[in-house]
Amino acid sequence: MTLKRFLSWAVRSVATLRTSLRPVAECRSFASERGADMDLSNMRKTYRADNECFVEDQLVSLDPIKQFADWFDQATKCPDIGEANAMCIATCTKEGMPSARMVLLKGFSQEGFRFFTNYESRKGVELENNPLACLLFYWEPLNKQVRIEGTVERIPYQSSCEYFRSRPKSSQIGAVVSRQSTVIPDRQFLRQKNAELQEQYKDTDVPMPDYWGGYIVKPHTIEFWQGQTNRLHDRIVFLRPKEGDTLGDMQHQGEAGWVYQRLSP
Ligand SMILES: Cc1cc2nc3c(=O)[nH]c(=O)nc-3n(C[C@H](O)[C@H](O)[C@H](O)COP(=O)(O)O)c2cc1C
Repeated sequence: MTLKRFLSWAVRSVATLRTSLRPVAECRSFASERGADMDLSNMRKTYRADNECFVEDQLVSLDPIKQFADWFDQATKCPDIGEANAMCIATCTKEGMPSARMVLLKGFSQEGFRFFTNYESRKGVELENNPLACLLFYWEPLNKQVRIEGTVERIPYQSSCEYFRSRPKSSQIGAVVSRQSTVIPDRQFLRQKNAELQEQYKDTDVPMPDYWGGYIVKPHTIEFWQGQTNRLHDRIVFLRPKEGDTLGDMQHQGEAGWVYQRLSP
């Protein structure tokens, strides 16, 4: 290649590159100019094909807690899921104003699903006044969602203490430092309080604050959802029938006192 031909090729290549990068640059400036006014109508992911659907005979158990254990196990083994036990918990004021946030599931059994928090936080206050909650897991790489609805109770003080003592000292101090959901002046306020408490408890155990502890969500409804590319998603819902309820037309007897049914997606 002569020098002249090389220079002409180089100029053409740079021009092509600039043209191909333009949409990205335009998109960025559009986004910043328009703020939150973004058209996301084409954002869509492929889920599963119809032959990978989730049908009733694939339930590993007709007891939804055991079924949850199976999906949870799949999620913990999935390398693309960082925190399989991260869940959204929705609570509601007595007046009906909902709020939601992520917390970590710290255990589950036939009794229910346990997590720990500050009893004086926004969620804590809402739960004290309206002890109902909805938990939501979405394990995106598996196209699986689980929704759990139920009543909420504080776990026994001793159980909270045991978990508190099992946490690293820095997390114990963090729980004391933070009067969760209250307004504070700045980050320095937290740093200073943290340093003071580290000094105070350097040679002794950190006592669990009385405003901190665990809750258990006792489920009455558990829905297993699996996404399909054609949007014919699978939804199998387990319910705890009330005393005297008879099995509905499209309901099936589960195990451990549960019944189940399929919902349209
Ligand atoms: C992945 C993740 C896990 C979290 N785990 C907890 C938790 O186990 N307990 C907790 O009190 N807050 C946890 N948080 C913080 C909460 O989302 C929330 O900010 C905090 O509990 C205050 O919520 P509230 O003001 O609605 O009560 C977590 C946040 C994230 C993103």
